Amino acid sequence: MKIAISGKGGVGKTTLMALLAGEFKKAGKEVLVIDADPSPHMAQTLGVKHPEAIRPIAEMTKLLVERSGKTEGSPMYNMNPQVNDLLEEFMIDHNGMKLMVLGAIQTGDKGCACPENNVLRRMLTKLLLSKNQVVLLDMEAGVEHLGRGTIAGIDHLLIVVIPSKSSIRTALKVKKLAEDVKIPKISFVGNLVTDEEDRSFLEAGLGVQPIAFFPDSQTIRNAERQDVPVTSLENAAGEAPGILMQALEGKKAEG
Ligand SMILES: Nc1ncnc2c1ncn2[C@@H]1O[C@H](COP(=O)(O)OP(=O)(O)OP(=O)(O)O)[C@@H](O)[C@H]1O
Ligand SMILES: [Mg+2]
Repeated sequence: MKIAISGKGGVGKTTLMALLAGEFKKAGKEVLVIDADPSPHMAQTLGVKHPEAIRPIAEMTKLLVERSGKTEGSPMYNMNPQVNDLLEEFMIDHNGMKLMVLGAIQTGDKGCACPENNVLRRMLTKLLLSKNQVVLLDMEAGVEHLGRGTIAGIDHLLIVVIPSKSSIRTALKVKKLAEDVKIPKISFVGNLVTDEEDRSFLEAGLGVQPIAFFPDSQTIRNAERQDVPVTSLENAAGEAPGILMQALEGKKAEG
């Protein structure tokens, strides 16, 4: 299963993705987290000691061209490093999960991160997964990058939304664009939801119920301030990560 996350800036995408990664890991899945935010922050959130040492996927472009001769080709990828040594060079192992980072945006002529996004798109569409493997893609805020079709290979898009009008507006825009690029499943996930009023506000604004609600958590807030990875916390967001995972696995009706 390949899952991506989107939503307005600062709504909690990276935090929720990290918590979800931890939940899948606990459930015995092989987890690959890909940070596709040009200002990557997932490594810090997961508590990787030297995030700057991770080789960005952006560098893979050259390697792919070298390896495939004159054409770029479209090799099939596999998460298993024994089968694919190329991917291994760009993955780090961290607490039983794998992490890849897309890399900083290139401010070329058009300010487009096209090569990076092409590599990522190819990788997402060609990545062969067994049932036990999950790919989680953390993305930058907003809607602009969705137009590049980077997430074309994704099975399920999560749109994080907090109980505010502006967040709902962005979430609805993201949904529309994701439908345009034919993402098979699209779901909203509420964050910073404190009470029934917040839930109703979200549901009314979105037109459907989010598949999970994450609480406004003092534990998460403190962890971030003290550089403690959210994945190391017991019960940082109550039942929410488990509910979200189950919904993604189709064990619960979807919103
Ligand atoms: N449920 C929560 N309870 C308390 N604090 C939270 C919660 N979710 C996220 N935060 C805090 O909100 C801030 C923003 O979270 P995060 O970085 O995950 O957002 P983001 O959507 O990934 O941001 P960006 O758009 O910059 O990538 C962080 O300080 C994080 O610790
Ligand atoms: Mg983020």
